[in-house]
Amino acid sequence: MSCYHLVIILATVLCAEVLAISHEVRPERFEQMLGFEYVNTTGIRVRKFNRTTWIFDGQGEAFQDFNDDYMFTITMAHSRLGNNQWNEYPMKIARSGACEILNGPYKEYQHHFVEYTNLPRVGEERVCPFKKGLYWVKEFAPGTDWVLPVVPEGYWRFTGDVYDKEGQLIIRLAGYFHLSRNMFE
Ligand SMILES: *[C@@H]1O[C@H](CO)[C@@H](O)[C@H](O)[C@H]1NC(C)=O
Ligand SMILES: *[C@@H]1O[C@H](CO)[C@@H](O)[C@H](O)[C@H]1NC(C)=O
Repeated sequence: MSCYHLVIILATVLCAEVLAISHEVRPERFEQMLGFEYVNTTGIRVRKFNRTTWIFDGQGEAFQDFNDDYMFTITMAHSRLGNNQWNEYPMKIARSGACEILNGPYKEYQHHFVEYTNLPRVGEERVCPFKKGLYWVKEFAPGTDWVLPVVPEGYWRFTGDVYDKEGQLIIRLAGYFHLSRNMFE
């Protein structure tokens, strides 16, 4: 390797360290494990939209209303290689009543996805309960502006759990994503 080549490579490596790093979030799949008598989300799929973008598409149904008698939480797990060795990650949406979540964390994050769905839009007025009905998602490609720079690359699982009044786990949904950083954009 000539000296000239070495200089180019070093400069490239240094630039990569300094340049803004962009993330790529690729949805992989969506799954319902529990609670088919309460909700049916089996119609929600991940599909390839074009060469670079994967999207969520489809519809689901809630067979009943959910108020604060139902507790909801989202937990996150990381797998570097995607070989099903999941490590729970400390970030999560703490378990609280469905309406507390809807009017709290959901309200705060809704601008990332609500345009692509008919999920409730929470404004000034408190929304409660989360109503039964048909919900759709159309061509939703998760953005990356919410990904913190410290979040490690690899495979991510977001698990949404619902508990009933007795504290029994009744619904479990999971979304799987792959996160990578692009150095040169
Ligand atoms: C669940 O949703 C799928 C896809 O939309 C549909 O084919 C199926 O009939 C639904 N099942 C029930 C029990 O509603
Ligand atoms: C793929 O679709 C996304 C979302 O519409 C768009 O932003 C992106 O530019 C498209 N990429 C290509 C290669 O067409």
